[in-house]
Amino acid sequence: MHIQTYDQLSEQVALKLIATVKEKPNACLALPTGKTPLGTYQTLTKHFKIDPALDWSKTRCFALDEYLEIKESDSFHTFLIEHLYQKSNIATENTFSPAQVVNYDEVIEQLGGLDLTLLGIGRNGHIAFNEPETCPLSFTHCTWLEKSTLDANRSDFTGKQPDRAITVGIETIMRSRRIILIASGSSKREIVKQAFSGEITRRVPASFLQKHPNLQVLTDFGFSLDTTNSW
Ligand code: GLP
Repeated sequence: MHIQTYDQLSEQVALKLIATVKEKPNACLALPTGKTPLGTYQTLTKHFKIDPALDWSKTRCFALDEYLEIKESDSFHTFLIEHLYQKSNIATENTFSPAQVVNYDEVIEQLGGLDLTLLGIGRNGHIAFNEPETCPLSFTHCTWLEKSTLDANRSDFTGKQPDRAITVGIETIMRSRRIILIASGSSKREIVKQAFSGEITRRVPASFLQKHPNLQVLTDFGFSLDTTNSW
């Protein structure tokens, strides 16, 4: 299906997540926050309401990142609880945050590794909170946030905006068996073009995803990419 609207993007991604969990009920998913995935989570909520067979009680959900020194109500963990966890039958003990779990990468590996990582993309090409110049062989780590990231996310805060975060690394993401990156709106068109039609460079962390053998990039502005057939 050629995606032309945000609603179509959200529906397509929700259906892919549903299919992943139907195929593997105890799948390990890495999940993003921010504006782009909101429609996907709202669509999932709709499906949970109308489809009693939808069972995510064994599914493990890993947040991609979290702010440091954050007011709980402004945290990414609260975002996922409010927009997904409490609107599904995901078990609390199967939800994980890098700010709450020591040795995040080890826990991911012990639970079988990531089956599917859903990503957004920052305006500077960051994935999770891997900002430009992040080492591609990085695992979960703490990081300072760039000005462009702080500017883009400023409206998300009622309290003081943190300038540091903890995030899965680029290598954590690359070890996921499958990756779906979503982008919405003309403000992301240029960075998506740089990331997936430009050179692979630390300046654009998302560009490293070009090397992943099972990546889909889905947007509502006419760009798409599927690396599964190019290896
Ligand atoms: C934040 C998050 C990323 C997210 C990005 C884009 O930096 N750490 O995971 O992809 O913002 O968010 P949005 O979808 O709101 O543009």
